Amino acid sequence: MDRFKIQGGRRLEGTVRISGAKNAALPAMAAALLTSDPVTLQNIPHVRDIITMAKLLAHMRCRVESPDLPPSEFTIQAETVSLQEAPYELVKTMRASVLTLGPLLARFGYARVSLPGGCAIGARPIDIHIQALERLGAQISVEHGYVEARCKRLRGATFRFPKITVTGTENILTAAVLAEGETILENSALEPEVTDLAELLIKMGAKIEGVGTSTLRVQGVSSLHGATHAIIPDRIETGTFLVAGAITGGDLLLTDCEPQHLVAVLNKLKECGVEIKCEGNGTLRVRAAKKLVAADVTTEEYPGFATDMQAQFMALATQATGISHVRETIFENRYMHASEIMRMGANIAVDGNLAVITGPTPLSGAPVTASDLRASASLVLAGLVADNTTWIDRVYHIDRGYERIEDKLRAIGARIERV
Ligand code: EPU
Repeated sequence: MDRFKIQGGRRLEGTVRISGAKNAALPAMAAALLTSDPVTLQNIPHVRDIITMAKLLAHMRCRVESPDLPPSEFTIQAETVSLQEAPYELVKTMRASVLTLGPLLARFGYARVSLPGGCAIGARPIDIHIQALERLGAQISVEHGYVEARCKRLRGATFRFPKITVTGTENILTAAVLAEGETILENSALEPEVTDLAELLIKMGAKIEGVGTSTLRVQGVSSLHGATHAIIPDRIETGTFLVAGAITGGDLLLTDCEPQHLVAVLNKLKECGVEIKCEGNGTLRVRAAKKLVAADVTTEEYPGFATDMQAQFMALATQATGISHVRETIFENRYMHASEIMRMGANIAVDGNLAVITGPTPLSGAPVTASDLRASASLVLAGLVADNTTWIDRVYHIDRGYERIEDKLRAIGARIERV
């Protein structure tokens, strides 16, 4: 099993190109199931979850082709889909496989998708996805660990999400575009990844109003056609590198990013004293704080501070002067990184969904274990600033969502190796 060996204490300097957003690419790939025409997706990040989604689509007998290697573009053609099924073997490695449920059901009237289990960060049920599809007329049974959904043609309806859900909104949106009549989705997620998906669907011929707002109005059409679409930049990778620059006292230029998708994170880092400038053209420059100071963070749905940046912020808070309060409101168990960073010398007290970090504390290199994707990113950040050597186990978690993170970090001066 791969591990990272990090020798901390290096100031990071240079330019990093930000990749396409994994969490936008995954629903876009699933949306290709909605048409028999080719759908070409550009700016695809080369990460494990994308490979898993490509495998899943191939399992359903879609053609998935890429002109380059590693692939940064996919053309997906769902002309000959003969198996409307997401098997346990693939779903257990990637929950986002559930994003195929809506498109399969809408186009073929049938889908069988393994029920994703809980994961390290929480129970993560899909009850709301199921409720919403039932509202659109689907008959759904959950048996033997699988969700089996059937319909003649989905019928438009009004559905208010009882809780904001990102993949829930994406799943139902990709179902509603082929339903008969109008669907109104209230309390929809506002995340940029949802907007990116809606823009792809519109290019494919879908009729959607209210894009970027919490009420999405969809006039169902009888079929969709192919399209070409470039995936938005990864706002979480951008935020992670902003913290890498800040925590190492560095000076980084991040290119190909979208600062508007990161307003809450940019404001919070500025509050900590980090110098950040938008240099136009999707470029951000981050420079070390003269003095890094503590700040409080509460995770929220977009446009609030993203839960996917909470772990990285906590690593930064260990180096800030004062007491930072971090409150996690989206997932019930997203502090697995805290105990690992404490083993490196951090002063963190966790009580329920509140973590109190007192800093600054010097971190000392130690063997640590990654528990999930963003937790692994925070351990890498802690390792970059720790003395001596940090060994991170189970880096397969980070490979799920960061493209070549060790190469990108090495290119800006970090001493990090995959062993
Ligand atoms: N929830 C329910 N029932 C549902 C759906 C969600 O109770 O049917 C709850 C969840 O358990 C959670 C909350 O609602 O407490 C919000 O979950 P959401 O559905 O929004 O999360 P998700 O769609 O499963 C996506 C991202 C996550 C990111 C969250 C929150 C993808 C593929 N995943 O997950 O990304 O943390 O939104 O922003 O888009 C990551 O990239 O590391 C990651 C975990």
